[in-house]
Amino acid sequence: MGVPKSASIDPGHAREAAFAIATSHILVRTTAALVEMDVFDALAPERSANPVTIQELAAAAMPGKAVNIKNLERMLRVMISNSAITETVDTAGERRYELGPLGKFFLKTGIQDSGSFAHYLLYGQAPEVQQSYRPLSELVVEPESARDLNGGTLYEFHQKHPELNKLFNQGMDGNSKVMMHAILDGYQSGFPSVRVLVDVGGGFGASLSAIIDRYPHIRGINFDLPGVIAESSPLPGVEHVGGDMFEGVPEGGDAIFLKWILHNWGDEDVVKVLKNCWKALPSGGKAIVVDHVVPEVIEPEEVDKAILIMDVMMMAHHNAKERKLSEFRKLGLAAGFSQVNLVCQIRSSGSVIEMLKA
Ligand SMILES: C[S@@+](CC[C@H](N)C(=O)[O-])C[C@H]1O[C@@H](n2cnc3c(N)ncnc32)[C@H](O)[C@@H]1O
Repeated sequence: MGVPKSASIDPGHAREAAFAIATSHILVRTTAALVEMDVFDALAPERSANPVTIQELAAAAMPGKAVNIKNLERMLRVMISNSAITETVDTAGERRYELGPLGKFFLKTGIQDSGSFAHYLLYGQAPEVQQSYRPLSELVVEPESARDLNGGTLYEFHQKHPELNKLFNQGMDGNSKVMMHAILDGYQSGFPSVRVLVDVGGGFGASLSAIIDRYPHIRGINFDLPGVIAESSPLPGVEHVGGDMFEGVPEGGDAIFLKWILHNWGDEDVVKVLKNCWKALPSGGKAIVVDHVVPEVIEPEEVDKAILIMDVMMMAHHNAKERKLSEFRKLGLAAGFSQVNLVCQIRSSGSVIEMLKA
């Protein structure tokens, strides 16, 4: 094990970075409020071709509302400092605003193809979700009594809060549309030979749709809980199938895709799902798992911090966790797969692990 590179961080930078962590809840709240007020959407290129003044922005985002321009400007400054909105000063000395490089990820509308994190962000800000993270310390000091922080698994929690479930599914849909571009660019070896691909826990089918877009010869089966499938729209080349992956998964695919599924479950449940995948696959078939892989050693300058944050997010749900490669390997082999190979790692989107059936 090497010495982590953080040992060389300079004191000024350390202070600034520590204060940024201490105030990060306000950054998230500011971004969520601007999403809610349609500020990013009002700056979308389809709606404002040229940089707009703050009065024009307020009128476009919140028509007919009395807007406190000074407060809006203060919130915009936070976004400018984070490259989500760009500010320029015109020849008349007037400030003008447009979407910055991060801004498109907070659009709620017009994201059918490219996706966004807007709904995922709003889901995380819902009071019930916030509440579910509050006693995280109990998971350290009283792990047994606080194990069921949300009253069970993430999906049992969602059953009690249908409106949150809807926002979560929208959030995952937007998320996957963003992430799949990176995954498809990074993972090029696995799909060309696949004819029928079953996406287990595929949500509304965003991942399959992106895969088929890139590989039109693939026929897709999108498998999820019946309630999720009932809300899904028809997609070209995709058959939607409702069911429970703990009971079984559809047969007929030569490969099975599992993106951001295994991290929601404890080891026993993961083995159950993987066994069902193994049973449904033909000999020579493969499960393509996309999940975060926790590194053995954390190098602060190099690690994808989202992996470790997502892992703590998982702690709030019954037995859920991000795993090391050795853990994936153990679970895959326990389910009957003959090989478990890490194929590639894609920052913030997850790693691609292939589990091969002999
Ligand atoms: C974190 S989301 C990931 C969705 C999608 N794979 C993606 O990456 O966008 C987990 C998915 O698993 C589905 N799911 C949960 N329990 C399930 C079960 N027992 N059977 C089938 N799907 C399930 C959820 O409805 C949800 O769509």
